[in-house]
Amino acid sequence: MLAIRGRCCVERGYGAAGQRVAPMSAPPRGRFITLEGGEGAGKSTNLKVIEKLLRSRAVPYISTREPGGTDLAESLRSLLLNPSSEIVPLSELLMVFAARFDHVEKVIVPALREGKWVICDRFVDASFAYQGGGRELPWSKIEALERWLPRLARPDLVLLLDVAPGRGLTRATRNRKADRFEQERAAFYQRVRKAYLRRARGSSRYRVINAGRSRRAVATDVSAAVGGLIDRFGGGR
Ligand code: TMP
Repeated sequence: MLAIRGRCCVERGYGAAGQRVAPMSAPPRGRFITLEGGEGAGKSTNLKVIEKLLRSRAVPYISTREPGGTDLAESLRSLLLNPSSEIVPLSELLMVFAARFDHVEKVIVPALREGKWVICDRFVDASFAYQGGGRELPWSKIEALERWLPRLARPDLVLLLDVAPGRGLTRATRNRKADRFEQERAAFYQRVRKAYLRRARGSSRYRVINAGRSRRAVATDVSAAVGGLIDRFGGGR
């Protein structure tokens, strides 16, 4: 995580000697980037690619993840991923959103307000994909919860790393035991992928990146998308 660069703000009005001083300008808000995709799509690797790019362009940022990012959300994550947890789909949806509201209010929104960019490993699109697609909960229930999120917590850029489910899952569980989601069947992951692609369709905020290619090719596309955002917003300050 990078420390925010020092900045001096002046209150609107008059200085001690009665001279007019420049009005205080709020820092430009940071930008919000989320990384999405099925298991083993390469999110962690590409999160590092984004961090490196932001550092090279002197953009202050934090990186975080969902479910997680706060003590409460990390506790909920442990429950959600534990293969011995028995959780009905609607409770699962409410748990991921309970974790999200905590994370958004304590971490994401404050960072964006301070002008920091936020890179988040999964966000609301994962709920549409896993609880909507995978668990087949009605889209409208998830949309209702999504509407409770503050406007500021709307991602500026969603990088969807798209990979055939079987391939990604093998990659993800190569060196460890499968978690509660990873124990799902192939059909679950086909629905997850379809739901992600449905969310991305027709929206300019999404970049669907074919993650079945070489690391380098994927990283090049990720860097191009994030570089475009930096060029557009000038690093948030
Ligand atoms: P990962 O971030 O390590 O891939 O694992 C998190 C798991 O949580 C992943 O299997 C997807 C799942 N998940 C949901 O089901 N809904 C959500 O809203 C989020 C953020 C994650």
